[in-house]
Amino acid sequence: MDANIVDIGAGCGRWSHWMRDYNFRNRRFTGTYVGVDVDGEAVDWCRRNYDGERFRFHQSGDASVSYDQAGWGNSYRIPEADAAFDLVFSNSLLTHLLQTEAENYLQESYRLLKPHGTMMHTIFNIEHPPATLGTRHTFSHPRGDAMIESETQPEAAVAYHSHFLLSLCRRIGFSACEIIYMPSGAQHQPVLLCRK
Ligand SMILES: C[S@@+](CC[C@H](N)C(=O)[O-])C[C@H]1O[C@@H](n2cnc3c(N)ncnc32)[C@H](O)[C@@H]1O
Repeated sequence: MDANIVDIGAGCGRWSHWMRDYNFRNRRFTGTYVGVDVDGEAVDWCRRNYDGERFRFHQSGDASVSYDQAGWGNSYRIPEADAAFDLVFSNSLLTHLLQTEAENYLQESYRLLKPHGTMMHTIFNIEHPPATLGTRHTFSHPRGDAMIESETQPEAAVAYHSHFLLSLCRRIGFSACEIIYMPSGAQHQPVLLCRK
C-alpha cells in the first residue's frame, strides 16, 4: 500500500478518494498520489481538498482542443521525477485524446514508471466498440490513426485500433502489452495494460 501512483485526467479526484479513504483491515494507503488534469478548476479543488504531502495535483498544459485552458502545446511534461512511480493510469482520458496528445502521455507514462512498473489506460477500441456503437457512437471519421465521433468536436469521443496502440507502446519501450476487454454488455471501457 505504499505504491506511488499517477492518475492522468484525474478530474475532481474520483479515484484519489478511494486511495485517501482506503482502509482494509487497518491497512491504509501510504504512497504518493499524483493527479494531472487540464481543467484548472478541478485541479484547484483537488489541491484544496487533499493532504498536499501525499496527494499532488498538476494542471496539464496539453493541447486539448476542447479542454485546454493554458494552451501550452502538446509536449507537456508532467513535473515529476523519472522512474519514480509504480502505476500510471487513466480512466476515460485516451477516449478524449487525439493522436499527438495520446502519444505524449504514453511516453510520459513510460518516463515516470520505475522499471517493471505498470501502465493502465482505458480506451475506446475499434475492434471491441462500446455497446453504444450504432446509437450514441459511430466513430466514423478518421483523424490520423484515430477514429473520431464528431468533426466539429474531435475530442468528444476518440477510438483507436488495437494494432496502432500496441505497436506504439512497444515502440516506446513497454513490454507485455495487451488490451483487456470487458465481457460484452459490461459498461467499462477496455484497458490498455503494459509493463515497463
Ligand atoms: C471523462 S473525464 C474522466 C475523469 C476521471 N478520470 C474519472 O474517471 O472520473 C476526462 C478527464 O480528462 C481530462 N482531460 C481531457 N483532456 C486532457 C488532457 N489533454 N490532459 C489532461 N487531462 C485531460 C478532463 O478535464 C476530464 O477531467
